[in-house]
Amino acid sequence: MQLDVFTLVPHAYAWLTEQRPVATVLGAELDLRLFSYRDTTPLRSGQVDDEPYGGGAGMVLRVDVVAAALEAVYGGQPAHRVIALTPQGRQLTQGVVEELAKEERMTLLTSRFEGFDERIVEHLCNDSISVGPYVLSNGDLPAMVLVDAIARRLPGALAAGSGEVESFSDELGGALEYPHYTRPADFHGWRVPDILLSGDHAGVERWRKEHVR
Ligand SMILES: C[S@@+](CC[C@H](N)C(=O)[O-])C[C@H]1O[C@@H](n2cnc3c(N)ncnc32)[C@H](O)[C@@H]1O
Repeated sequence: MQLDVFTLVPHAYAWLTEQRPVATVLGAELDLRLFSYRDTTPLRSGQVDDEPYGGGAGMVLRVDVVAAALEAVYGGQPAHRVIALTPQGRQLTQGVVEELAKEERMTLLTSRFEGFDERIVEHLCNDSISVGPYVLSNGDLPAMVLVDAIARRLPGALAAGSGEVESFSDELGGALEYPHYTRPADFHGWRVPDILLSGDHAGVERWRKEHVR
């Protein structure tokens, strides 16, 4: 997948790209490209946002700035999926992640302060996603959430067997995964369920099925 992120802080993604599973698939299943709106803005002094029409606090990301960024990278409006990260978008779920992980090319647009000029969402994007019903200060944390969630669904991202049976997966009928335990088996009298120590694989499977939440 070629995944392009437009942002004001490309350097902020350095941490993400060093972490598994993103680091594992980078350069193979994932080609992650980071573009700064400032590099292509048609305005002077790297300006990218402006005061809202009608007044009020905060600055709004300009439509001409985003159009220029898309033009510089794609030579116009790309034919693939372009997603605005915004609290007004459709809510991100594992189902949406699975849908997005099938794309070959995708673009994420981030904003900050008061958000996007609405014409960006209406005319330059064909999808919009919210990572939850709360407001963050910028679209970079949501973009990183999306990159991580998608990366772990790409081939080779996870060790065999660790990505199939997870919370929200089809294997668990969309439910939450059963509890996990590790050593010590007894900590201050908090004992690990006996069945998990028994070596009875069928019993363990049964217990796990019963404890899907
Ligand atoms: C402070 S927010 C803007 C909030 C906007 N004025 C509102 O009230 O809906 C700045 C930017 O952060 C990003 N953002 C904030 N919360 C988000 C969320 N829940 N999902 C996706 N993006 C979000 C978006 O890119 C947004 O334009």
